[in-house]
Amino acid sequence: MSRALREAFHREYMTFFERAERTRRWNLFTDIPWDELPASAPNEQLAQCAETFCGVEMFLPDYLSAHLDAVGGNYGQAWFAANWGYEESKHSLVLREYLHRSGQRTEQQLFDFADDVLARTWTRPYAEGRQMVVYGAIQELTTFVIYRKQRELALRAGDHVLAEIYRLIGRDEMAHARFYQRMIELHLDTDRPGTLLDLAHVLRTFRMPAEDVLPDYEARIAVMRTAGIDSGVFLREVVFPSLGAVGLTRHDLPGPRERAAVDSELRHRKAAVT
Ligand SMILES: [Fe+2]
Ligand SMILES: [Fe+2]
Repeated sequence: MSRALREAFHREYMTFFERAERTRRWNLFTDIPWDELPASAPNEQLAQCAETFCGVEMFLPDYLSAHLDAVGGNYGQAWFAANWGYEESKHSLVLREYLHRSGQRTEQQLFDFADDVLARTWTRPYAEGRQMVVYGAIQELTTFVIYRKQRELALRAGDHVLAEIYRLIGRDEMAHARFYQRMIELHLDTDRPGTLLDLAHVLRTFRMPAEDVLPDYEARIAVMRTAGIDSGVFLREVVFPSLGAVGLTRHDLPGPRERAAVDSELRHRKAAVT
């Protein structure tokens, strides 16, 4: 990666970090209205979803090592990974606390669940750092859309505490998505054809993290449908807004024939350089 791009990432990270420090920090112990947890019967469907998302967030050690593998001497990206890891670490913790403090799971059940989750391994889905940036943008925005839906469901069920938790963690996910979008823009400025190829490739093959590795995932699928992310929602609320945020529409993405042409041109260029 060129020095100019590394410096641009660093400047972008400083903007992200300043905003995070000034406007987005929240405290798991003091900012959640724990004493307002509903006394009425727990809503098992919401609890199942909270537990599932807690599990997805729990693959943090694997996500972090994927981040750090992709850093390659890039200062801005490394510091982003550290800060991102801190923010994400609170997401599984706050959902875990919710499940415990609301009496819907015992401490023992939660330890068993963590053991089950951490016995599995998530591996990064793309080899290239730039593809992982695109993946990050899509994954973070998808997570934001999921949490927004869960927040609505929690409000409807009268669980304001869970709704507030989803509001706070959803706001973090949106900030992460925006950071990745800025990185995509910087990549587009540096190598537009290659970045467009990576965008097309990741959008074609994207899967949510941990879908395959969560314990009892099959059993969770029915409940997870309440998350409401079908392919139409994914296109409307994740793919098109992500493209729009970086100044593109789907018509800018290379189709199969163009992909092959750009691919061979890039290979050509690479061969000429080496
Ligand atoms: Fe998260
Ligand atoms: Fe995130």
